[in-house]
Amino acid sequence: MTPIIATDAATHCADWRLKIEPLNEHEETAIAAQIHHYPQPQAAAIEALKIVQQQQGWVSDGKVKAIAQRLQMSPDEVDSVATFYNKIYRQPVGTTVISICDSVSCWIMGYQGLAQAVTQELNIALGETTPDGAITLLPTPCLGACDHAPVAMVDDQLTRQLTPASLILLVRRAQEQSS
Ligand code: FES
Repeated sequence: MTPIIATDAATHCADWRLKIEPLNEHEETAIAAQIHHYPQPQAAAIEALKIVQQQQGWVSDGKVKAIAQRLQMSPDEVDSVATFYNKIYRQPVGTTVISICDSVSCWIMGYQGLAQAVTQELNIALGETTPDGAITLLPTPCLGACDHAPVAMVDDQLTRQLTPASLILLVRRAQEQSS
């Protein structure tokens, strides 16, 4: 299965000769509204990426190219913004994304146990999606809740002071909701 660790720039090698995927009407309107808030269109890059991701579930190379054209940036500049912002997915993800913090506090407080438990439970590695497309597992840098380590996010919901057992419960709940 192809890993999709979105935050690792080294794993992503964009070929910008590929065809542009034009913004759809909703994306175009929403991005134009964001540009209106800033003195320079380039400042709307993160919002533009979020808008496309809300529509498509992830942001393809073709959409990066379309955003770049709209914001008067190069595709590499837009790709750099997407890579920096770890909630932008540059490859398809599952219905639910579980992001486990692997930075220092969480690592010390039990990250490895969490990672082992959840990868065994789902029978996939970090960076992969279950074959039914239900869940993607991602390692993620510090989520800003170090004093409650170890933590993980299930989509946008942060859960603190996890144990392997409590993380498995979250995973099973996510599986039920996506079935
Ligand atoms: S190290 Fe995990 S939240 Fe900061």
